[in-house]
Amino acid sequence: MLNQPLDIIFPEVPNDIDINELDIDNLPTHVSIIMDGNGRWAKLRGKKRLFGHNAGRNSLREVVRCSSDLGIKYLSCYSFSTENWARPKEEVAGLMELFAKSILAEMDELHKNNVKIKIVGDISRFPQKTQDAFNKAVEMMKNNTGIVLMPAVNYGSRDEILRAVGAYAKDHSEQPSEEEFSKYLYTDNIPDPDLLIRTSGEMRISNYLLWQIAYSELYVTDTLWPDFDRYEYLKALIAYQKRNRRYGGV
Ligand code: IPE
Ligand code: IPE
Ligand code: MG
Repeated sequence: MLNQPLDIIFPEVPNDIDINELDIDNLPTHVSIIMDGNGRWAKLRGKKRLFGHNAGRNSLREVVRCSSDLGIKYLSCYSFSTENWARPKEEVAGLMELFAKSILAEMDELHKNNVKIKIVGDISRFPQKTQDAFNKAVEMMKNNTGIVLMPAVNYGSRDEILRAVGAYAKDHSEQPSEEEFSKYLYTDNIPDPDLLIRTSGEMRISNYLLWQIAYSELYVTDTLWPDFDRYEYLKALIAYQKRNRRYGGV
């Protein structure tokens, strides 16, 4: 169910999009995004990579707001992978700083919009300040009933699966069912993504939600993450609704 009228959510639809193609009764329950292309976006402007990460924050704010207005229940977003530690020290430190700063700055607005936060990944390796910001936001919004925003941070799917295998084996000796095993993943209780969007044109998964995206619809756009706005999002949603999800059936 929409939380805002469609013409408020999308006030200036560009000519190349037909908003009537959007079926508001058939929106995805869970949208997941690999937010990629910040570095290239900055480079095109002769700036440092962190300039791009900073700009990416606006895209995320817009997509969260738009998703919440559309009544989408879950939004997960790949923000820092277990492999991203390999980046230059300055970039990693800048990202940690940016996470802390943006969470604290956006928290009240998110709370007002009834957003709930669930962290996907292990933030215990993050600087204390960044961990504190995440934990503060989770705690503040824990009783909210609106969209569940799931930042994937220090997240890697293989790491997640290995942790789950280890934890499961401690509790049981027999082979789990898919459903039992899923309970040991970070995404316990969260339905699998219906739609997975990747920006910046890369045709790969980069160790993201390997288990959970078994039957997700994939949408890749060349648009770089800082340029991804509500209308790019609308295009992805319309494309998703044209897919025929068969789940192996006919
Ligand atoms: C995605 O943008 C953000 C993170 C991985 C943190 P990139 O930083 O990967 O940008 P590109 O891919 O180099 O353009
Ligand atoms: C995936 O992007 C991780 C995030 C968006 C946080 P990367 O830029 O790290 O992925 P690769 O290196 O292009 O596969
Ligand atoms: Mg990248």
